[in-house]
Amino acid sequence: MVLGTGDCRGCAVIDVNQPSAARVYDYFLGGTHNFAVDRALAEQIAAMTPNIAETMRSNRLFLRRAVRYLAGQGIRQFLDIGSGIPTAGNVHEIVREAAPGASVVYVDIDPVAVEHSRDILAGVERTGVICADVRDVDRLLTESEELGLIDFDEPVAVLLAGVLHFVPDADGPASVVAALRDAVTTGSYLLISHATADGQPPEVIEAQKLSGRTATEIVLRTGAEITAYFDGFDLVEPGLVFIPRWRPDPGDEADGHPERVGAYAGVGIKN
Ligand SMILES: C[S@@+](CC[C@H](N)C(=O)[O-])C[C@H]1O[C@@H](n2cnc3c(N)ncnc32)[C@H](O)[C@@H]1O
Repeated sequence: MVLGTGDCRGCAVIDVNQPSAARVYDYFLGGTHNFAVDRALAEQIAAMTPNIAETMRSNRLFLRRAVRYLAGQGIRQFLDIGSGIPTAGNVHEIVREAAPGASVVYVDIDPVAVEHSRDILAGVERTGVICADVRDVDRLLTESEELGLIDFDEPVAVLLAGVLHFVPDADGPASVVAALRDAVTTGSYLLISHATADGQPPEVIEAQKLSGRTATEIVLRTGAEITAYFDGFDLVEPGLVFIPRWRPDPGDEADGHPERVGAYAGVGIKN
């Protein structure tokens, strides 16, 4: 494993004694880029909420469906913020199949995620990686432009999959999204998936509190709160829905209880 904080100024530091959200997520997806402390926390969360791994996988599948959709809408620039530790079927792989020649920039606060992204993307055309905090919008926009991969005069898909719930209310998540919206041109897209307490049993709320042991605690938000982040965007069909309900693939089984996956998903186009 290549570790390095190199140019990760403003990024988190690698602390093998504290679980990290990126590495816990990697563990749930069956990845190997996690430490004992991450696995222990993941097992504790899984014991309280048996559907947690399904939720994570469902989020990943949504991201793939949505990226294919966006490529189909003609999007050729993808800014994936809170991109995580790359696993098979990552955004750049979907983009390469669906829109060869399109650009992908990954942004994450976690140096492990960033270093693995750099390893995987070495030599892959029109891809780049930035170690930055989503709350530092100016910096990540500037660095995206400096990479020469994103032209903000052309439509961009801003992907915020599973990341906004790590931004506490005190840090103004709505302002973060508004700054991203203001930076992109009409016809750009915003993708959000976000954990919720809506429709969830009490043990999910309890398990959420465990996330406070990582450097980044999860904030569960309501459907109405998450919908408000799409201010200035028109939600495309089917709107903000529990993740399995967002444009399931034709062969996917109809899920009578999509709320088992405790997160919402939506995609909007800037108006
Ligand atoms: C649950 S993973 C989601 C990964 C990927 N987007 C997906 O949906 O499959 C959340 C990622 O957000 C990153 N993250 C958390 N807080 C962040 C912040 N303030 N700025 C940038 N990334 C952040 C974590 O390091 C982690 O890699």
